[in-house]
Amino acid sequence: MFQTRSLLKTVTSAFIIATLSHAALLPTSLNISIQSENMMHILKWSSLQEVCYSVNYTVKYQGEFEYMKNDSWLDEYSCDKIVHTECDLTLALSSDSDYNISVLARCDGSTLWAQLPKTFNRRDTVLLAPNMSVNPRVGQIEVYFGELQNHININLKIWKKGDEQNAISKEITKIGHNGQKFYYDAWLGGGTYCLEAEAILDITNKTSSTDTHCVSVNAWLAKKLPDIFLQGPAGANTLCVTARPIRGAGQKVGDEGNV
Ligand SMILES: *[C@@H]1O[C@H](CO)[C@@H](O)[C@H](O)[C@H]1NC(C)=O
Ligand SMILES: *[C@@H]1O[C@H](CO)[C@@H](O)[C@H](O)[C@H]1NC(C)=O
Ligand SMILES: *[C@@H]1O[C@H](CO)[C@@H](O)[C@H](O)[C@H]1NC(C)=O
Ligand SMILES: *[C@@H]1O[C@H](CO)[C@@H](O)[C@H](O)[C@H]1NC(C)=O
Ligand SMILES: *[C@@H]1O[C@H](CO)[C@@H](O)[C@H](O)[C@H]1NC(C)=O
Ligand SMILES: *[C@@H]1O[C@H](CO)[C@@H](O)[C@H](O)[C@H]1NC(C)=O
Repeated sequence: MFQTRSLLKTVTSAFIIATLSHAALLPTSLNISIQSENMMHILKWSSLQEVCYSVNYTVKYQGEFEYMKNDSWLDEYSCDKIVHTECDLTLALSSDSDYNISVLARCDGSTLWAQLPKTFNRRDTVLLAPNMSVNPRVGQIEVYFGELQNHININLKIWKKGDEQNAISKEITKIGHNGQKFYYDAWLGGGTYCLEAEAILDITNKTSSTDTHCVSVNAWLAKKLPDIFLQGPAGANTLCVTARPIRGAGQKVGDEGNV
């Protein structure tokens, strides 16, 4: 009886020493942080490359549901046994839940389990103002927006300068990764039009707006046409056709159809 116990004790202390000698080489944390902008969530941590001969990492996460159910953790499959120190959790963290997030590092014979110090909730994402560029076209305003992530919509306001109380509003809810151009008629004729775009995060109603952009738009008929065109038969069709080469100068092929 006594012998068994002392043997156990020896084995146990040998085990602790082995663990400690490994642990001494590893830092106690991985300095995990998460950056979340516009509903894209990127986890980062510090590298163990300096202290390990061979190292890889697996990212795990646990929402309130998994925690309540069984205190179980889900693996992020795109970040399983990876060697780089960054993981895109945009698709994984897909509910408005508080998430615990951990990184399991395998360093030679040892493992280090490190957890993000605070839970993360996607509702805390930083919402940026939309990427908008505005170009005047003849009789129209061309507006370009960059990609929109899910749950972010744009409310675009357009008004003729000095007439902001009669601004029109356009809602834009989907834009793919190449961005998209939109065309709006200068409905009050030529002059200066101003635009402001507000991003809205639908899960919180958080908003973020661009500055006001103003552009000067020429009316359809106010543009200067060479005399030769004006001498042709009168009519909108003729004007439309003859107008193309003039605008074509600074324009890519393919834009024409939208004018
Ligand atoms: C921890 O991470 C932050 C942000 O990524 C960085 O600024 C800081 O230098 C890191 N600290 C250590 C000890 O690695
Ligand atoms: C996260 O882990 C802590 C313990 O480390 C626990 O108290 C908390 O409930 C967990 N939260 C979730 C959302 O799993
Ligand atoms: C909960 O965890 C236990 C032990 O880890 C496991 O046997 C069981 O299948 C788990 N249950 C669910 C619903 O995941
Ligand atoms: C991960 O790292 C451990 C420890 O260095 C190593 O034993 C294992 O083979 C590695 N796995 C992969 C898939 O790289
Ligand atoms: C706008 O574009 C810049 C550069 O392309 C990018 O870094 C930034 O994240 C974009 N912002 C938004 C709100 O999409
Ligand atoms: C956001 O605002 C809309 C309209 O005012 C409202 O119906 C909705 O409940 C709000 N959502 C949140 C998450 O506050």
